[in-house]
Amino acid sequence: MSKVAVLGYGVVGSGTVELFYKNKEKIVKKMGRELDIKYILDIRDFPDSPYKEKFTKSIDSIVDDPEVTIVAEVMGGVGDAYNYTKKCLEKGKSVVTSNKELVAKKGAELLKIASEHGCNFLFEASTGGAIPIIRPLHQCLAGNDITAIAGILNGTTNFILTKMINEQMSFSDALTMAQKLGYAEKDPTADIEGHDACRKICILSSLAFGKHVYPEWVHCEGITKLTLEDSCYAENWGGAIKLIGSVKRTEDGKILPMVRPAFVCGGNQLSHISDVFNGIMVYGDAVDEVMFYGRGAGKLPTASAIVADIVDAAKMNGTSISQTWEDSDDNSFIADYKEDVVPMYVRVKGSDKGKISAAFGDVEYLTRDGQPDDELAFIVTAMPEKDFDSKLPAIGGEVLGNIRVLELD
Ligand code: HSE
Repeated sequence: MSKVAVLGYGVVGSGTVELFYKNKEKIVKKMGRELDIKYILDIRDFPDSPYKEKFTKSIDSIVDDPEVTIVAEVMGGVGDAYNYTKKCLEKGKSVVTSNKELVAKKGAELLKIASEHGCNFLFEASTGGAIPIIRPLHQCLAGNDITAIAGILNGTTNFILTKMINEQMSFSDALTMAQKLGYAEKDPTADIEGHDACRKICILSSLAFGKHVYPEWVHCEGITKLTLEDSCYAENWGGAIKLIGSVKRTEDGKILPMVRPAFVCGGNQLSHISDVFNGIMVYGDAVDEVMFYGRGAGKLPTASAIVADIVDAAKMNGTSISQTWEDSDDNSFIADYKEDVVPMYVRVKGSDKGKISAAFGDVEYLTRDGQPDDELAFIVTAMPEKDFDSKLPAIGGEVLGNIRVLELD
């Protein structure tokens, strides 16, 4: 019999308990032995909950209970969540988490503690919500040399962009709706400024390339500067603007992780992913490319990944899987994004085609309905971004939009 403690009874915590009891019979049957939730830790009282006898406010009652062998940390943040996770792992209890901030900032340390104590630190729910991506990347694709990963990694921003473009909803109304649906972070700045996607690309990069990538080393931009006008040009071009978290190996053997909005062409499946859905493309030497798709946020989709990790942790009781990476002392293995060779979209007011071709040579002009006479939008062929930056002032006028075009090979 494995006993579980759930730390935190917010959106994901309550979803985990709900899903576990909804499907308990099937889960236990698949596992071949009993599994139950013994504690739910929360500072709040839930007197009307059907699980009220399981609530505790004391982490020590969990840490000191030898019956508890698995802990689901779904509190968020790196304060108590980190301290409690560490305590539990040091006691040999496996911890499963949806907390991407915790994994992105402390993953290498917590994985080491888990392996030293014969237990597991699992985090399938930290990236891609319901989508299985951590285990496939570590196990099913283990025979590949992974060269790149690119994905829509934040459900809230994809939901906002979809609502704004397809339904002409305002940014703030779409964000409020995402919050009501339980998609957004407690502080939604983490979603809209790209920090959440950044934590997720750090996790995927660390797993794929074997060294811890810390969020402060990753160039990160959110969606706050995107305009409907830029989206119209992207649509007419046959694609869409998406917030993309990506990482690729560069020619000098470094890796280049980043989070930025990107023009994604219609031939790339990521351009068709809408609402809260996430999509992740993984490129490897044997598979060429594989895509993972599903709900990237929300109560039950995230709980699905937490419950799966609980089941895996119970099955592996006493053994430690090698899903791990090295810590890194410095960021010398991270490439400078300004060296990246990338096509760029530009929208400018008050320039002219003569100046544009003098600066950039042949470019691809884009159009949109209602395009003002003094506005031009175009795509510059791939060049190192630092060269693009140095040429851009020569076109004159007022640059209104400037977005990378996604290209991974
Ligand atoms: N706020 C996150 C998102 C939750 O919208 O993707 C899931 O990690």
